[in-house]
Amino acid sequence: MESLIFSGNSNIPLASAVATLLRRSLGKVELIRFADSECRVRIEEEVEDKDVFIIQSLSNPVDENLMELLLLGDAVKRGEARKIIAVLPYHGYARQDRIHRPGECLSAQVVAKLIEAVGFDKLVTFELHNEAILGFFKIPVVHLSGLSVFRPLVERLKDDVVVVTPDAGALKRSQKFSEGLDLPLALIEKKRDLNQPHKILSMRVVGDVKDKIAIVVDDVIVTGGTLVNAAYLLKEKGAKQVIAAATHADFVGGADKILQDSPVDKIWVTDTIVIPEEKRFPKLHVLSSAALLAAALEKMVK
Ligand code: R5P
Repeated sequence: MESLIFSGNSNIPLASAVATLLRRSLGKVELIRFADSECRVRIEEEVEDKDVFIIQSLSNPVDENLMELLLLGDAVKRGEARKIIAVLPYHGYARQDRIHRPGECLSAQVVAKLIEAVGFDKLVTFELHNEAILGFFKIPVVHLSGLSVFRPLVERLKDDVVVVTPDAGALKRSQKFSEGLDLPLALIEKKRDLNQPHKILSMRVVGDVKDKIAIVVDDVIVTGGTLVNAAYLLKEKGAKQVIAAATHADFVGGADKILQDSPVDKIWVTDTIVIPEEKRFPKLHVLSSAALLAAALEKMVK
């Protein structure tokens, strides 16, 4: 076998499912955390002249998971692998894709530099917040969309459906989704408070949602704030149901409770980030992204 697949600790269930679909098992790796939280990595397989895939979601705790990825990459590089491919089902820091106020850092670009500095030859990732960050990489990037997993669920809905983009930045993604399903599109104009993380100042709906099922398409749900505010607004404008379709779910704080108690009727997400049992709730439906990811890797795995 000329390819090996390793996983960091962030999403072992997904990495194992992908490996199984590719008729492989995950490569052996030792990942140790010292008492001071430093991480030590040791690859326990022969990687010389092999193509090595490292699967790791850069989800919460983002910096820990990022560091694991970088150290795994370095260990494999030192083993003289032929090619190292980073597979990031969720690309953390992707939302920090531009400088909003003077003095800010360009975090998504820093992460791209770190991945390249370690020696990764290629990146495969899923539903980036903004495709513009592809420009931060010199190495080739395969950018997959997770939205196709939601298509069959939307197609099963009998009533009038409208796709809703929860903010202007998400327009391209929602446009693609609505065009693919031949559905109308409505837009929510969202203003954030740049001085307070997660705080939304105002929202306004552009387009007709009355008596329709509104599918709010987003890349990620974190606090649930964007979605819950959108749902209140959409219901106020006459939407009869609000369904969220978001590729990544990195729930923080009481997001599970906030979402369950909100006017959102259903929440569809994928498993690019592990959602522990205690953060699952009745309105949540988690779909597998493993087949999509495996199909993309199948072409590269030898
Ligand atoms: C923002 O631009 C993103 O696309 C998501 O809408 C946002 O990050 C979701 O975060 P939260 O659930 O905290 O509102």
